[in-house]
Amino acid sequence: MSRIGIVGLGYVGLPLAVAFAEAGQEVVGLDLDPAKVEALNAGRSYIEDVPDSALEPLRERLGASSDYGDLASCEAIVVCVPTPLTSAREPDLTYLVEAAGSIAAIARPGQLVVLESTTYPGTTREQLTPILERSGLSVGSDLFVAFSPERIDPGRTDYTIRTTPKLVGGMTPACTERARELYSLVCDEVVVVSTPEAAELSKLLENVFRSVNIAFVNELAQLCDRLGIDVWEVIDAASTKPFGFMRFEPGPGMGGHCLPVDPFYLAFKAREQGFYPEFIELAGKVNQAQPAFCVERIERALNQASKPVKGSRILVLGASYKAGSGDTRESPALTILRLLRALEADLSYHDPHVPELPELGLASVDLERGLAEADLAAIVTAHPGLDYAKVVATAPRTLDFRGVTRELESDRLERL
Ligand SMILES: NC(=O)c1ccc[n+]([C@@H]2O[C@H](COP(=O)([O-])OP(=O)(O)OC[C@H]3O[C@@H](n4cnc5c(N)ncnc54)[C@H](O)[C@@H]3O)[C@@H](O)[C@H]2O)c1
Repeated sequence: MSRIGIVGLGYVGLPLAVAFAEAGQEVVGLDLDPAKVEALNAGRSYIEDVPDSALEPLRERLGASSDYGDLASCEAIVVCVPTPLTSAREPDLTYLVEAAGSIAAIARPGQLVVLESTTYPGTTREQLTPILERSGLSVGSDLFVAFSPERIDPGRTDYTIRTTPKLVGGMTPACTERARELYSLVCDEVVVVSTPEAAELSKLLENVFRSVNIAFVNELAQLCDRLGIDVWEVIDAASTKPFGFMRFEPGPGMGGHCLPVDPFYLAFKAREQGFYPEFIELAGKVNQAQPAFCVERIERALNQASKPVKGSRILVLGASYKAGSGDTRESPALTILRLLRALEADLSYHDPHVPELPELGLASVDLERGLAEADLAAIVTAHPGLDYAKVVATAPRTLDFRGVTRELESDRLERL
């Protein structure tokens, strides 16, 4: 049995800590947020994908702490802290730098440190390694350092940590081998790449690929609106091609912690080289404009009924960024609500996963009551289990930005 430290017990760190503990390892979870440490030590989870019942059998092996000293006896330390953007949309590595400094203070010869946070190529070598070496230990001989990107997709159940291949790239072949051994404890397949940079960039490729393709279908949806063609029918039709096509769907914009943020890490690194990556910036621009396009569609639908947005009762269905989740980070629903508020709409929302939106002073309303009072219902995030036929039948008009009403016919229904 090994002792493994996980730094940052959020959407990435907590499921990973659970996976190592379930594999029989002793796990120390380290987080500076005392509420998380307290909750975990009381057996309470705060991440939807980790039920309390998963923590119960691990009480002996999984403990949480805010004291980096508790990591000194770990053989491996995995870093899963946030990597957000600054207000100027540049990489904000302050969490990483702080965590690395705290690890350097307790580092012991023979330890492995793996970075999982999404970041630009070069971070492990240029940022993490020099800070760790302040400990007096040399990377490659005393201390082992690698990058291994997290591929978690919150809410997904068909692929797990165990069944999703794990990439690792170490600073030296010995570092890579140590990281490969570590992840072999919880992953069926570990894929080795030659450097941390290759692993860092692979993760960004995966995310930029999604961002660019989502932007492309969002733009297509705007074009279809002008042409009077049903974009969903076109996508369904193209998806019948069994090769050379991959389905992406338009929507109200891109949300979550990853896709709206990560591509800008790569754009930043590219600019440092005097290189201006057109696809990344263009995809970001198109996706960020999508909530405003949705608001324009709402304005048009109300206009058809001789109603201004000002004073109209608009019910937004779904506030989180993704179906089945309560995560509102970068959610386009929030942007749509803010834009509508600026137009003085009378707003309400319904989301069983998001009881409150304190920043907007709103609380989720009962669906029946919300529909009965609304002038327009906008399906922004299509949580499973909601009766969309009832929505369309009850609301005076419905705008569907997710294509979940494709089977329904009504002259009071419009889709993206
Ligand atoms: N959420 C996802 O689906 C996902 C998927 C793949 C990759 N990632 C990447 O993983 C990283 C973590 O993302 P997340 O969604 O888990 O973030 P999160 O905000 O849910 O969790 C991060 C945790 O780190 C803690 N923390 C911050 N600074 C710390 C420090 N110095 N020491 C100890 N703990 C500290 C925070 O309190 C928080 O609990 C990011 O780089 C993200 O881009 C996220």
